[in-house]
Amino acid sequence: MYVKPRDLVEQPAPVPPLRVSLVWTFGAMALQKGTLKLVALVVVLCLIVLGFIIGGIIIGLSTGYRYPELEVWPRSEEYNYEQPLIQFRASDPGSWHPWFKRINDFLLAYETTVPEDPPRAPCSVRRHDQRVVAAACERVLGMWAPCNADNFYGYAVGKPCVFLRLNNLHYWVPEPYNISKPMSIPQEMPNNIKQAMRQRPANHFGDYIWVSCNGEFSSDEENIGPIQYIPGNLPPGFPTKRLQTADRIPRIAQDRPDQSPGPLVAVFFENPRRGVIINVECRIWTRDIIYDRSSRYGRVRFELQVD
Ligand SMILES: *[C@@H]1O[C@H](CO)[C@@H](O)[C@H](O)[C@H]1NC(C)=O
Repeated sequence: MYVKPRDLVEQPAPVPPLRVSLVWTFGAMALQKGTLKLVALVVVLCLIVLGFIIGGIIIGLSTGYRYPELEVWPRSEEYNYEQPLIQFRASDPGSWHPWFKRINDFLLAYETTVPEDPPRAPCSVRRHDQRVVAAACERVLGMWAPCNADNFYGYAVGKPCVFLRLNNLHYWVPEPYNISKPMSIPQEMPNNIKQAMRQRPANHFGDYIWVSCNGEFSSDEENIGPIQYIPGNLPPGFPTKRLQTADRIPRIAQDRPDQSPGPLVAVFFENPRRGVIINVECRIWTRDIIYDRSSRYGRVRFELQVD
């Protein structure tokens, strides 16, 4: 039988231990100039990627948090989230007029020539800076009373209104409470909301983001007095169909700030105790937002002092 000479001489070389062979391989590769360049290139690429990641984090931090924010208006020029104070003397127009003007300015964004049903915000027939047609406004004026400009939003009589609005909705897919689902409604939910939930027509179950306000501490509860949510003929909160949440806008718009200001709820303080600071906390009620006093998710607090 004929045997090829090569087959006879080519015995497989003994395999060196793995570690030794790796060291050898990389050592030999590193010695080649081309490989060094490659390594340098990889390092540079890694640094660039790292730069992008760090840059992204910095941009992310500087452009705010990704959460549905409950805002309270009016805000003073020195507004800060930690201690937003609304303070005025009802008997002194010079003291409350700046707040009146701030609300007017805030509501300018809601001016519309196309009547909305229901209207998202109050309007005024007396304000001269408002471009809206008076006739279209007259119809909705009563609905927002007393939280409209023609009543000075209540500031002139020491019964102020503040406005609540949801912002940063383009990130958010809310999970509203739906009373017809077997999941339980939280015990601590205010009775007026539970009642309003039951009174809603069945085909509207689960299409509302409920809102409530209360005194933050027990002394505030004593001082805050009765509260009304305006418009009084609507349930307290925001109908989901009017909110531009992530599930209701095109994918591309989900990366951009909210395109239109959300609907409003006014909170009317009927009889706040004079001369004391009242800590007020407002929050929204949905399944996906877990209440936490230190959280900013769907929760806001402010301080009210009427002298
Ligand atoms: C609430 O739950 C009921 C029953 O499961 C359902 O028919 C209804 O569509 C829900 N509402 C919303 C807004 O999802």
